[in-house]
Parts: sequence; structure tokens; C-alpha cells
Amino acid sequence: MEASIVVLAGDGIGPEVTDEAKKVLDVVAQKFGHTFTYNHQLMGGCAIDKLGTSLPDETVAACLQADAVLLGAVGGPQWDLPTAADRPERGLLALRKALNLFANLRPVKLHPQLIRASAIKESVLEGTDMLVIRELTGGAYFGPRQEAGEAGYEAYDTMIYTRPEIERVVRVAAEAARGRRKKLTSVDKANVLASSRLWRRVTVEVMQEYPDVELEHVLVDAMAMHLIRRPATFDVVVSENLFGDILTDEASMLAGSMGMLPSASLGDKLNAHDLPLGLYEPIHGSAPDIAGKGIANPLATILSTAMLLRHSLGLEAEALAIEGAVDQVLNQGVRTADISDTGSETVATSVMGDLVARHI
Ligand code: NAD
Ligand code: IPM
Ligand code: MN
Repeated sequence: MEASIVVLAGDGIGPEVTDEAKKVLDVVAQKFGHTFTYNHQLMGGCAIDKLGTSLPDETVAACLQADAVLLGAVGGPQWDLPTAADRPERGLLALRKALNLFANLRPVKLHPQLIRASAIKESVLEGTDMLVIRELTGGAYFGPRQEAGEAGYEAYDTMIYTRPEIERVVRVAAEAARGRRKKLTSVDKANVLASSRLWRRVTVEVMQEYPDVELEHVLVDAMAMHLIRRPATFDVVVSENLFGDILTDEASMLAGSMGMLPSASLGDKLNAHDLPLGLYEPIHGSAPDIAGKGIANPLATILSTAMLLRHSLGLEAEALAIEGAVDQVLNQGVRTADISDTGSETVATSVMGDLVARHI
């Protein structure tokens, strides 16, 4: 198969982790007889510096033409001025919107080899394997907003949802639950927020079409607690944009590190293979505190490429090869610093990439 992949390396550790992901994809291409071409484009802080905008038009155009997009991360303190006209994060949000990527799949799977890398005790973690589906193009991220004026007196964001926005993402979650353990947890704040009451109403309605899937509603504050009290009881979790963002950073610690969680953002656009044009990225950010040191964990990005092969190219065996290679490397006791443990061997970002590539 021939596939064209836009690579948005981005800022901070972004280029470090996407380099390793490409290394692994190259070996997959070679072993399975595919040709993957990479089209590098600018987005985020690097695009502001070079082109004066966080999301250049040519980047959007390239993404729309591609079979899939691989992203490292964007952002950093140098672009964080409160009065900045543009920000790296704005580019990412605008790209998600331009590609209509309304469903963000964030699997939270504990690799048993890492059970001691987590701060949470083993008896709680055992069996953790959930799929969080975060709504990605609505809510407070995209509602009407007002920045504070000169006096800095008032600013607001609006968490807004429409029925079709809720319906489509709940359907994605329900279908996913059907293919898994048939349980869906919908997270909202229906005791306080109007948008959450609509979320709950629409979710109940949609789920009437899925009588085989058990539906549970959990308020977001309680969910923050249940995630670390009974993580193994969750199968598919669906929530609005901001709640899903926060809960998945928390959930990453169930898997041992932010550096372990991949993601796939999917919408309604199809690529040349008639499969979803998706954007694949680790859930973590640009990690300015460790950028340039060669110690970042590339596994979240490498695992994101497995999702890319599965969802945007239909290459299931190749995706499994990547996931299997990651498992084997972890079996050997090799770790990056963020998941290191007594008795494990701590390696650099590029060594981790080499080892995964070697096990394909
Ligand atoms: P972060 O996710 O970058 O880092 C949080 C902590 O996790 C840091 O201590 C970091 O060192 C660690 N960490 C993250 N990824 C790691 C990896 N692969 N290996 C080892 N350790 C890792 O979050 P932050 O520090 O709050 O944000 C930094 C910047 O990243 C901000 O500008 C933020 O807006 C941006 N950000 C971007 C994305 C994205 O591009 N999708 C996501 C989240 C944050
Ligand atoms: C993420 C990030 C982004 C988000 C930021 C960088 C805009 O935290 O991808 O999880 O909030 O969606
Ligand atoms: Mn986030």
C-alpha cells in the first residue's frame, strides 16, 4: 500500500517523539511491503516563529489531502504571553475543527509490566483497560468567549453543545462499547450545567438504540475519584471536551505515565483509502521541562502510529506488530526515565525507538 502521512512534529519534545514514531513506521513499511511518504508541515509555536501563524493555510491543505496526520505536540513558555495574538494551541484547535475531528479516542491500557511504575497500588490497577472518547470540537473550547480588556475586569468562555454534536460522539462511543465489554460510562455535570443536562438527555435517547450496552452516568467530580478507586470497572467512557481532557491526564497515571497514552482523533472525512482521515497524537504536551534532553518517552507516539495504521489505513496486522513490539521491549525491562523502576534499564528516547523498531 502507498500512504501519505502529514507529520506535524511541533514544539518541545514533539520532534523527538515523532522521529521515533517514523523510525518504527519505516520498519513496518519495509517488513510489510508498504510505502509511507511523510510530508512535514508546520503547526504550533514553530509555525508562529517561521510563518507568523500557528496554523498556516498550506498545513491545513496538506492535511486535507493526506491519508492521515501524525502530530507530536505544540506549545511552550516562549509563546505563553497572556496578551499574545496567536498561540500554538490555537493552531491545534483550529486544525481539529478544520478536519472536523469530533471524536478523540484515548485508550487507557495498563501494560502489566508497568504496574509498579504507577503511583497507584497494584490491587486497584489490575485489569485496567478502558477507552475514553472525548468530544473534541465543541464545548468551552469553541463556544463564544470574551478576553479580558485592558482593565482585566471580566472574561468568559461558553460551554455550548447542540443535540447533533452530542449524538454523533455518543454513537461512536456506543459502537466502540459494542465491540468491547458492552459498558458505557457517560461523564457530565448534569447537577449544575445546562449543557450537561442536554448531554445526559441525548445520551439516554441514543442509547435506547443500544439495549445491549449497559449505560452508567457519573458526575465528573466523582469520576475523578472513581478513576483511581475502581479503574478496572470502566470499559468505554464518553465525555465532553474539557472534562475528557482533564480526566485523561489523570487516567494516564493508571498506565504509569503521560508518555504511555496514544490517541486517535476521527471525524467524518474520508481519505483516499475510503477510511477516516484521522489525526494521531500522544495525549501529552510538549514537555518543556525535559525537551532537548533526549529522555522523553516516545511510546505514546509510537502507539499512536499503531492507531493510525488501524483506523486510517486498515492495516490491523501492522498495528498489532507495533503494539506487540512495544510489549516485548517492556518485557525486557527497558524503560525511559518516566516509567523506570528498580531493576529496569533506563534508556534514552532514541534507544527506545530503536528497540521497538528492532522488534517489529
Ligand atoms: P505536558 O504533557 O507537556 O507535561 C506534563 C508532565 O509530563 C511534564 O512533567 C512532562 O515532562 C511529562 N511528560 C509529558 N510527556 C512526556 C513524555 N513523552 N515522556 C516523559 N515525560 C513526559 O503538559 P504541560 O507541561 O502542562 O504543557 C506543556 C505545553 O504543552 C503547554 O504549552 C501545553 O499547552 C502544551 N500541550 C500540548 C498538547 C498537544 O500538543 N496536544 C497537549 C498537552 C499540552
Ligand atoms: C490535549 C491538549 C490540548 C487540549 C491543548 C494543547 C489545546 O491538552 O491535546 O490534550 O486541551 O485539547
Ligand atoms: Mn490535554
